[in-house]
Amino acid sequence: MTSVAVLGTGLLGTAIATRLLEQGLNVHVWNRDPARIVSLVEKGATAIDDLGQAAKNNRVVISVLRDGAATASVIGTIGDLQSSTVVPMGTMGVEESRKLATQVANQGGRYLEAPVLGSKPQALNGSLLVMAGGEEQVFEEQHPLLSHLSQDPLLVGPVGSGAATKLALNQLIASLTHSFSISLQLIQQAGVPVETFMTILRTSALYAPTFDKKLQRMLDHNYADPNFSTALLRKDLGLFLEEATTAGLQNQGLTGLLTLLEQAKGTDLDEQDYCALHELTVLK
Ligand SMILES: NC(=O)c1ccc[n+]([C@@H]2O[C@H](COP(=O)([O-])OP(=O)(O)OC[C@H]3O[C@@H](n4cnc5c(N)ncnc54)[C@H](OP(=O)(O)O)[C@@H]3O)[C@@H](O)[C@H]2O)c1
Repeated sequence: MTSVAVLGTGLLGTAIATRLLEQGLNVHVWNRDPARIVSLVEKGATAIDDLGQAAKNNRVVISVLRDGAATASVIGTIGDLQSSTVVPMGTMGVEESRKLATQVANQGGRYLEAPVLGSKPQALNGSLLVMAGGEEQVFEEQHPLLSHLSQDPLLVGPVGSGAATKLALNQLIASLTHSFSISLQLIQQAGVPVETFMTILRTSALYAPTFDKKLQRMLDHNYADPNFSTALLRKDLGLFLEEATTAGLQNQGLTGLLTLLEQAKGTDLDEQDYCALHELTVLK
């Protein structure tokens, strides 16, 4: 039976570990706050009490941690990786991922970045979009495991290319959500029926399915039970802007959006669904 360690059982990590358990894998779990592994242990996962044991018996080590710094720190604590493969699925910067690959090699392990698009529901039903970066042989070896989480895991290219692809997609999440929100605000202020606006939008080339996914939440001002938080979207937009600057791109169109998202810091909006940015697109 394939044996995996899932390090980080937050929102996405719990869903990934749950899916792997349901697929019959031998799943070991660790989280900084151990209270967040209890439900998984009740479902049959084994608790990792000592991170030094996480890579034991050539276990594949999947990390689903907040960011690159947390991932490097947690993987570093494992020490000798005993030829295990480390598969970070959390979102981090391109350079952070490359540095982590070197760190993993120095710890005696192998590396395949595997960031994902999709959230809790997609993890639970195995329909995440996996964009891996690494060596082809390592990808092929991990393909059966990734196939439990994704219908068609893709190898994008070498380490860093998966991370770049993920940041490019998350920039679209931020931009599309913001664009939709501010247009919706204007429509409502102008007294145009939302359904009339949506009817035109849905038949136009401008439509994106995420608009309808978030519409009701925005209309109800209900951002509870998030699949992806405002704080994490801000983190990813910040990472995208760093990469864009390095790549010599003109990023002024996006810096304002980052400033907007920074207003969520220290408020309830931060841990709510990222479309809570709708509350920020109106002057209070
Ligand atoms: N949610 C999504 O839909 C989604 C989709 C694609 C990618 N991602 C990415 O996946 C990653 C996890 O997202 P999430 O939504 O699951 O976030 P989350 O619910 O906030 O979970 C974050 C995880 O990181 C851990 N963590 C944070 N800082 C840490 C540190 N310094 N040391 C050790 N552990 C630390 C947390 O541990 P504690 O519980 O102890 O705080 C928790 O396990 C992020 O990189 C996110 O951008 C998320």
